[in-house]
This record gives sequence, C-alpha cells and structure tokens, in this order.
Amino acid sequence: MLNHIAIIMDGNGRWASERNRPRVFGHIKGARVAKKVITQAVQLGVKNLTLYAFSTENWNRPPDEVRFLIQLLQRYLARERHHLFEQKIRFNVIGEYHQFPSVVVEEIEKTVEQTKNNTGLNLNFALNYGGRQELVFVMRELSKQVLQGQLAPENITEALVSSELEKRSVGEPDLLIRTSGELRLSNFLIWQSTYSELYFTPVLWPDFNEAELLKAIEAYQKRERRFGLTSIQLEMISKNKKNLNSTSLKNQIASLNDESSSSEVFQNQTEIYNYPQGNFLSQGGLK
Ligand code: FPP
Repeated sequence: MLNHIAIIMDGNGRWASERNRPRVFGHIKGARVAKKVITQAVQLGVKNLTLYAFSTENWNRPPDEVRFLIQLLQRYLARERHHLFEQKIRFNVIGEYHQFPSVVVEEIEKTVEQTKNNTGLNLNFALNYGGRQELVFVMRELSKQVLQGQLAPENITEALVSSELEKRSVGEPDLLIRTSGELRLSNFLIWQSTYSELYFTPVLWPDFNEAELLKAIEAYQKRERRFGLTSIQLEMISKNKKNLNSTSLKNQIASLNDESSSSEVFQNQTEIYNYPQGNFLSQGGLK
C-alpha cells in the first residue's frame, strides 16, 4: 500500500455555488468528506495522509469566510478527537498554526498531545501552510548554523535540506491528489513533491468519495515511478527495497553504479554504447 498520500481539497466554493448556497456550505460538506477519506486511509493501511486544509493565501478571502473556516476546524477537532484516537491516528500539523486564535491553537495542541503515542495513520493537517515559507525557515536555520561555524556551506546538500525539512514538516508524498480540475500545486509541499505522482481530477472536493480515492490509487499503481532512471535500474533496486523515495534512491543508485561493472544487465547496457569497438561517443555519437 501507499506510504504517503497528500491531497489538495479544492472546489468547495464552486460546489456550493452550483447549488445556489453560500460558499461555507461547501466547506461543511468538505469537512465531512475529509472525515470519510481519513477513515478510508486507515482501512487501506496508508501510513501518512497530508491534507491541505488552510493555506497562507487563504487569509486573503473575505473575513467572514476565513472566520468560518477557522471555526470549522476548531469544531472539527473538538468533535473528532476521540474518533481519531479510536482509529489509532496520530494527528500532526504542518504550517504556522500559532497565528490562529488561541482557542484553535489549544484544540490543535490538545489533539496532537492526545494522539501522539498512536501508531496507526499519521494524519497531517497543513494549516496556515506555505511550501515556500517552510523552505525559508530551513534556510534561516541552516544559515544560523553556518554563522555559528557549525556548518560549512559546501555541506548543505539536498539530503540535509530534506532532513531539516522533515523535522518541521512531512516527508515525500508518493501520490499527490488535487480535486476540482485545477492543475497547480499552489505552494503545497513544493520540495517534497518533486518526485510525487500527481493526480488531478475534475471532481469537486465535496463530491470526492471512496470510489474516487480508489481510482486515484489505481492510477498511481499503473504508473512507473522512474526518478529519472531506466526501467532496468528500477527493477534491480526494487528487488532490494520496498519503499523508495528520492533520497534513499540516490544512495542505492550510487552503490548500484559501483557494482555495475560486475552486473550482467549493466554490461549489456554498456555494450550498446560500445560501437563498433571503441566508445560510442568517441565514434562521433549519434549522427
Ligand atoms: C478549497 O475550496 C478548500 C479550502 C480553502 C479549505 C479546505 C477545507 C475543507 C475541506 C473544509 C475543512 C476541513 C476540515 C477537515 C476542517 P475552495 O473554497 O477554494 O473552492 P473553490 O475553488 O471552488 O472556490
């Protein structure tokens, strides 16, 4: 089963407008759908689910809608906390949630605290979240270490940035879903989704359901995640390891390439480039 699914839950407002109802009506239905999808993820054995519930840009909406969204979150947490606990869910938040009113911050922290020892689904709500913002925090953190002489700039690597990011955020989603037909990431997990499979559906979030999630998972399973490699390389790696992400993959590729001189598959591949006796490129390459 999938390790990590991330979802941009979009289309609540349009769904409500289509029914001549106020936008908040769509958010209420959207929260119900979120509840169902969370339960389905538990049943499917997904390890991590990250939901984009409030972006840093959402503050720019009409004040009444912003207030409503925040209240909805507060009520949702108060009502759902024990259900989350019963389902062994560990609740976590990414984003600058301290900027919400203190009653909401309390609900969030209570939910995090009460579910912190659970070992089932890791459920992450992205709240007042921005992908660029969290990267800026990592840059500041690493800059401090450089200024204090604890870190050399040349030791800032992709792996280091990823691990710093993971301390305050989430890992890489395998599958990133966006509903409502919009084809953007909108500042969601921009570093972590570099190699995620993206799945866009025209279905509006309030209409999203179990069948739609299964469709997305099926589409994911049909795709071959190549991380820029060849199918043969992937086949060799998957024999050794079940879960791939772009960082662990780099280490595996390095060792694979070290061993490649003794590998039959790679010898065969190399032969393709030896034309006719010498090196393919030294013969002028492709003409
Ligand atoms: C996008 O719809 C959705 C949001 C801005 C917030 C997501 C919130 C929910 C799904 C409800 C709250 C969830 C929980 C779990 C408390 P939109 O308003 O941008 O829709 P539109 O693009 O059609 O206007």
